[in-house]
Amino acid sequence: MDRNLALEFVRVTEAAAIAAAHWVGRGEKNKADGAAVDEMRKRFNNVDFKGTVVIGEGEKDEAPMLYTGEKVGTGLGPEMDLAIDPLECTDSVAHGRFNALAVIAAGPPKSLLHAPDTYMDKLATGPEAAKVIDLDNSVTNNIKKVAKAIGKDIREITIMMLDRERNYPIMNEARSVGARVRLITDGDVAAAIATCIPESGIDLLMGSGGSTESVLAAVALKILGGEMLSRFRPKKEADIEKIKAMGIKNLKKIFTASDLARGDELTFTATGVIDGPLLQGIIFRKNRIITHSIVMRAKSKTIRYITTHHHLHQVK
Ligand code: FBP
Repeated sequence: MDRNLALEFVRVTEAAAIAAAHWVGRGEKNKADGAAVDEMRKRFNNVDFKGTVVIGEGEKDEAPMLYTGEKVGTGLGPEMDLAIDPLECTDSVAHGRFNALAVIAAGPPKSLLHAPDTYMDKLATGPEAAKVIDLDNSVTNNIKKVAKAIGKDIREITIMMLDRERNYPIMNEARSVGARVRLITDGDVAAAIATCIPESGIDLLMGSGGSTESVLAAVALKILGGEMLSRFRPKKEADIEKIKAMGIKNLKKIFTASDLARGDELTFTATGVIDGPLLQGIIFRKNRIITHSIVMRAKSKTIRYITTHHHLHQVK
């Protein structure tokens, strides 16, 4: 992948994140999302590449912009498939809670799994324990194995998980073996990736969340050398048909990060909207807006943290 392209995408996530951040705490999730989508699409069309959205805002008939299959970019330059979330955690923004991002994962055509929008059971951890996790193993055994691999006492293991009733059996078992569980209202993309960032203090992501979010996170985990295992957990009957239509016959198949994100021409770019386990959010100052982003490339394995000061009169 073109090296400059990865950096061009930061401008796109920065702009989307700023647009969304204007809506923090205003109780307007659709307006927050709409602002991020608008801005991301506009900025993509300034970048020299032939982009195809493979994971976006939904099917063409339900999403006017950045829908699955939409072509973006100037049409000059390399062909790229895109998995995007202009605003990951619309509710967090609407209610001014913790953890929201603007995200772009990109790779050559066919590198990203075109996952339908349903749920997946997930298990993610950083490089030290990447080889010991197993979705078919019990919660207890996975925690014990991860603790051993990273050399921590189980009582010091911190697991992040979406605060959903469906995840409570996992939460209860994890607590009963002595681990800490940090529940989040939204945002398991950042939580999964945080397992690869020691300073985050997060050792594991467990529980189910969105399947399209699995693909986004898988790109980053693959670059960072961690692992994320995911297995479809259809929300409704129609999801089963969509999964089968992708050629996946075995619904119990466990996908590794490499199954969701193939090859090494991948990039992951995100900008924080609200502080979370991966990135700080947008800071509004008197004459400037400060953004915090991360850019990673699989080929070079570089991880760039970029703090940008945008002069207010130039942020349009
Ligand atoms: P949105 O950006 O679509 O609001 O998704 C936020 C999120 O919390 C994801 O991080 C997570 O994977 C998914 O929703 C979980 O879905 P649900 O809220 O239906 O449990």
